[in-house]
Amino acid sequence: MNRGDKLAVRCRYVLLVAFICGSGFIMSLLCRSADIIVFTTAPTTAWDLQQHYPNNIDERFTIQTNGCNIPLLRPLDESIKKFFEYPYPLKPKPCRDSSRALLIHSDNRISINMSNLHYYNITDANKLFCCYRAFYRPLYVTDITSFFIDNRVEYGECYYFTESILVNDEFAKVNCFYNETTKVYENFYLSALKKDFLYHDGRGEITHNKRLYNVLIIGIDAVSRLNFYRKMPKTVSFLKDNGGVDLVGFNKVGDNTFPNVIPVLLGIPDTELNHTCVPYEGITFDNCPFIWEQFKRAGYYTALAEDSSLLGTFNYFRPGFSRTPTDYYIHTFIQEAEIYSGYNLDFNCFLCMNDKYFYKVLLDYIEGLTVTLENHKLFGFFWEVTMSHDYLNYPVVMDDSYLKFFEKLQASNYLSETIVFLMSDHGMRWGNIRFTKQGRLEERLPLMFILPPLSFREKYSNAYNNLKLNSKRLTTPFDIHETLLDLINLKNITNDAITTRTSKYYANKRGISLFLPIPTNRTCKMAGIDDHWCTCHKGTLLSNVSSEAFQVSTQLVRHLNMLLKDHPECAKLALAEIMEISEMEVGEPDDSETGWREFMVMVRTTPGDGVFEATLRVQEHDWSLAGSASRLNLYGDQSRCVHNYQLKLYCYCIYR
Ligand SMILES: *[C@@H]1O[C@H](CO)[C@@H](O)[C@H](O)[C@H]1NC(C)=O
Ligand SMILES: *[C@@H]1O[C@H](CO)[C@@H](O)[C@H](O)[C@H]1NC(C)=O
Ligand SMILES: *[C@@H]1O[C@H](CO)[C@@H](O)[C@H](O)[C@H]1NC(C)=O
Ligand SMILES: *[C@@H]1O[C@H](CO)[C@@H](O)[C@H](O)[C@H]1NC(C)=O
Ligand SMILES: *[C@@H]1O[C@H](CO)[C@@H](O)[C@H](O)[C@H]1NC(C)=O
Ligand SMILES: *[C@@H]1O[C@H](CO)[C@@H](O)[C@H](O)[C@H]1NC(C)=O
Ligand SMILES: *[C@@H]1O[C@H](CO)[C@@H](O)[C@H](O)[C@H]1NC(C)=O
Repeated sequence: MNRGDKLAVRCRYVLLVAFICGSGFIMSLLCRSADIIVFTTAPTTAWDLQQHYPNNIDERFTIQTNGCNIPLLRPLDESIKKFFEYPYPLKPKPCRDSSRALLIHSDNRISINMSNLHYYNITDANKLFCCYRAFYRPLYVTDITSFFIDNRVEYGECYYFTESILVNDEFAKVNCFYNETTKVYENFYLSALKKDFLYHDGRGEITHNKRLYNVLIIGIDAVSRLNFYRKMPKTVSFLKDNGGVDLVGFNKVGDNTFPNVIPVLLGIPDTELNHTCVPYEGITFDNCPFIWEQFKRAGYYTALAEDSSLLGTFNYFRPGFSRTPTDYYIHTFIQEAEIYSGYNLDFNCFLCMNDKYFYKVLLDYIEGLTVTLENHKLFGFFWEVTMSHDYLNYPVVMDDSYLKFFEKLQASNYLSETIVFLMSDHGMRWGNIRFTKQGRLEERLPLMFILPPLSFREKYSNAYNNLKLNSKRLTTPFDIHETLLDLINLKNITNDAITTRTSKYYANKRGISLFLPIPTNRTCKMAGIDDHWCTCHKGTLLSNVSSEAFQVSTQLVRHLNMLLKDHPECAKLALAEIMEISEMEVGEPDDSETGWREFMVMVRTTPGDGVFEATLRVQEHDWSLAGSASRLNLYGDQSRCVHNYQLKLYCYCIYR
């Protein structure tokens, strides 16, 4: 296939995957082939969970403060246990067998494994040759209005080799041919090479502040705190044994990845991006003041790396970046690797790059950066999607890799100069677990572990003690942003500085650094969490046939139809069934908000049988939605006619 054909395939592929994934909702069983289902029996991790979760009957809350009580959740509670037992624990299909690979990549060299020629039917080694090509994201763009501006790529010339070749490029692709024309092998190689340190204004090397810490934000998509305990217990143990702090009251602030990551990186809700740097939808994020810019000014190398390009935080139904946002940016690499060497497509994601899981490609890259930049400072935002996005049970596959990764960083002493944030954006957002109360809460309580090194814990002991205190308080992605800012200005968190700052009033700030004590009277409202996502609120079940139930459900359907009103290609939705309704007991209303009531409702609509969950508020006949409406079941290809990630949740296309 020539490049043109490949591009055509890619575009079709982008559309296909784009429409099936929504912001996490996928074609139900259509993409799955039966052979990838591997059953195992009961989870193997129960012993560890017991250890971390003794049956303490006195403990009735996850967190219990004046402003917020979150009920106690058990990792293997009866209501959700079945999702982790036969037949649920699916395992991903393995990648191609790496011991049969034609090429070996080690020590900056790619070489042919002569013992493996027979797997490729190569009888005459003299007729085998390989072509090594570097590729990159060109600096300059011709069409800056293109939605696919971030996907631009250029390949360098072909360097032929018959035994081995030195790797001198960040991104490389190698093809091997037999008997002149038969392509027998193709693979991609990512290297964390040293780059010159450049300020954005072109000034050269600076002397960084040696006392600053490296900051690694390592994301694992769609993993609730408890799913992390259930599925990655070895990593949990490592973090706990090394002074890691587990924020048990870490509450998400938006539905999917983007609205939970923007607060971390920019300190604002995604809905405010239009005042700041994205005046209208569909333009790139180049003008946004991401926190990595501040780390850059402080002398850090910066990195932004995700293990999927199609589902990339800034690329999924969004145009990404036109300029290169960080010193290290691998979107281009992952994109090419997905298109040409993507293997094992499972729902939304290619799990493998040929013979390696994509999550491992990312993890090895992070490790590579820590070695390459060992004498410099690094701020990195890394995000894994492929293995954890679609299945509750797949993260178990990553446990050993993450443990080894942390052990290596510890052995090289890198961890002693580094603060790690191991986090997620939300728990599983759809599927049967979401029809349980625990599933609803877990969706809103993602994993958030912070691992500061010993020197930090000693030197900034007040800050560290506050961090530990805050592990049992209501916290959000906005707080992570403030915490990161403090890591750029360590003067602000000396023991004296913490004492001074604690004495000043900050209880009402939306984001509060986790190095200061989070006020115990903090409510979701004070923390910037919309009621729909708030896990502090208690509900009382109402009858499905009450007049409230009917009113609230009707209002929700009306709201959905209003969102769809400019899209005649979407069917008008009608209420089919009221599945659950609760009246929420919402904290102390302040003066401006008297006489309102709030309900959380779950309904099924027709056509399409979409199941929606939303929180509605009514004040003197005025209805409004708190947060957005969640979709709890898969929309599959029902919404293929709309290309807005939000409307995809709600639209049922008339012409199908
Ligand atoms: C080379 O191939 C042999 C035979 O399959 C395999 O055992 C060996 O692990 C391969 N070498 C490397 C470095 O992968
Ligand atoms: C090698 O040859 C066998 C028999 O002709 C064929 O079945 C197999 O697909 C070939 N393998 C490759 C990698 O081309
Ligand atoms: C090599 O290619 C030539 C012509 O394309 C063909 O005749 C010959 O059989 C091939 N040899 C092998 C070993 O595949
Ligand atoms: C930004 O978007 C919000 C809704 O998402 C809207 O209410 C607000 O008016 C917009 N602001 C600007 C400046 O466009
Ligand atoms: C932190 O330090 C910076 C630089 O020294 C200063 O501008 C900023 O106001 C400080 N922030 C707080 C909250 O003390
Ligand atoms: C919360 O507590 C702080 C002191 O920690 C106090 O100043 C503030 O008034 C309280 N806010 C509310 C809403 O109760
Ligand atoms: C409401 O309806 C759903 C589904 O029809 C049912 O499972 C549930 O038990 C009902 N709840 C009440 C409180 O009647």
